[in-house]
Amino acid sequence: MEQQVQKKRIFSGIQPTGNLTLGNYIGALRNFGLLQDEYDCLYSIVDLHALTVRQNPTELRKACLRTMSIFLASGLDPEKNIIYFQSQVPAHAELGWLLDCYTYMGELSRMTQFKDKSAKHADNINCGLFAYPVLMAADILLYQADLVPIGADQKQHLELCRDVAERFNGIYGDVFTIPEGYFPKVGARVMSLQEPTRKMSKSDPEDTYIAILDKPDVIRKKIRRAVTDCDNTVVFDPENKPGVANLMSIMSALSGRTMDEISADYNGLGYGKFKDAVADCVIATLEPIQAEYERISADKAYLQQVMDSGRERASAIAHKTMLKVRKKLGIAPWKL
Ligand code: TYM
Repeated sequence: MEQQVQKKRIFSGIQPTGNLTLGNYIGALRNFGLLQDEYDCLYSIVDLHALTVRQNPTELRKACLRTMSIFLASGLDPEKNIIYFQSQVPAHAELGWLLDCYTYMGELSRMTQFKDKSAKHADNINCGLFAYPVLMAADILLYQADLVPIGADQKQHLELCRDVAERFNGIYGDVFTIPEGYFPKVGARVMSLQEPTRKMSKSDPEDTYIAILDKPDVIRKKIRRAVTDCDNTVVFDPENKPGVANLMSIMSALSGRTMDEISADYNGLGYGKFKDAVADCVIATLEPIQAEYERISADKAYLQQVMDSGRERASAIAHKTMLKVRKKLGIAPWKL
């Protein structure tokens, strides 16, 4: 009899804060769609993580639904993938707490995202912000994920997750699968359009990023205004020409063309023509997603159904891990 091979598991999450950007799409979301046939995937809207900075409840609710609609609009099939809200599966918070007890303050204080965010939100350096990577580790380990598709900025967090899991396994035996990162070959770090030495971020001013839902004329305007340099050559040189390199990476990631091919096509034509071609490429990618988004986000019954089924399917897997963890730690439920 033919034996069914168990698919490997993927977990990834995106915070529902502000507008999802082209960086989120190229760094993570696009890979989610590409991997959905080969793997058993869970994709979470990590609303608990979003609470590490102050959120307006009405806006957060809207952003959560918007994020779920974008997941679906970008081609994630809710039958093949488990798409759900992190806060609806309480085991995330529970395992997060348990793993807090196996993570050192020193490890967390080395996290660059914590340093950046605490500088940005100096009036609200809360414990959640500090323990953020532990909750992220819990997200991944709860589902025994083999692979985690993320952008380069999350690499340090994934390494911490692996360290904590190995520490835990070292004490209690094989409890958690040790996950690997999965990074895009091009575009693992899409840069700001205005300051191309910083990553594109949804928490920065609007002209620095392209939102997945930006309309074509806005996209074109933002790309035309993107910072480049004054030597007018389309050559891939991230060190000396970070602005041009960023636009080339965006084009390469979306079109599949190599840097050499892009350079051969556009070098010598001037930045105006090159930028227009990059804008065409971004618009061609995002326009169909936006059309799907309009349709899906208006269908509340469908969203409700995806949300409910995602919660149930995720909870069932999480429950199994929690039973194992509780047993190892010696906490209830026991069989008396
Ligand atoms: P978040 O919400 O900041 O970003 C979501 C995903 O997008 C990637 N990304 C980028 N990739 C390339 N270029 C950029 N400029 C760029 N900006 C963002 C991020 O690397 C990420 O993959 N902590 C995570 C969310 C999270 C998570 C998890 C991820 C929580 N639990 C478990 C994986 C597994 C975050 O803040 O992502």
